[in-house]
Amino acid sequence: MKLAIGSDHGGIHLKEALKQHLAERGIEVNDVGTYTEESCDYPDIALKVCREITAGNVERGVLVCGTGIGMSIVANKVDGIRAALCGDVFSATMSREHNNANVICLGERVLGQGLATCILDAWLDTAFAGGRHARRVDKIMAIEK
Ligand code: RB5
Repeated sequence: MKLAIGSDHGGIHLKEALKQHLAERGIEVNDVGTYTEESCDYPDIALKVCREITAGNVERGVLVCGTGIGMSIVANKVDGIRAALCGDVFSATMSREHNNANVICLGERVLGQGLATCILDAWLDTAFAGGRHARRVDKIMAIEK
């Protein structure tokens, strides 16, 4: 699986830690920034990650900001994106199994690195269940049309 990852200044330390973890797992990652602690605007980064997905360059995306909230608000405005803001492993698993989330949003100021890593692993390792959930996801996507 190929991923895009991005953060603003509020999420850069967690992004770097997650990147290292993904590299250890052998997962290819396209880091769209930010690359310094200088203040930047999370909508710009969220859009870059989402466009990597909608262009077909990567399968899924990881977005980190201070809370994860701003990133999730932006990502869910992009056609074809289903972003899940996750603060626990159960929600991350369900966001894949039931909602087929293609973006996960995490908050550096909310989560420790250990928990964030477990959440990300659960999200990466869970498949969409399909069936009745596919009908529901189709209804979500129909709203965008
Ligand atoms: C930046 O200070 C902060 O607002 C941002 O990282 C994020 O938490 C927004 O939702």
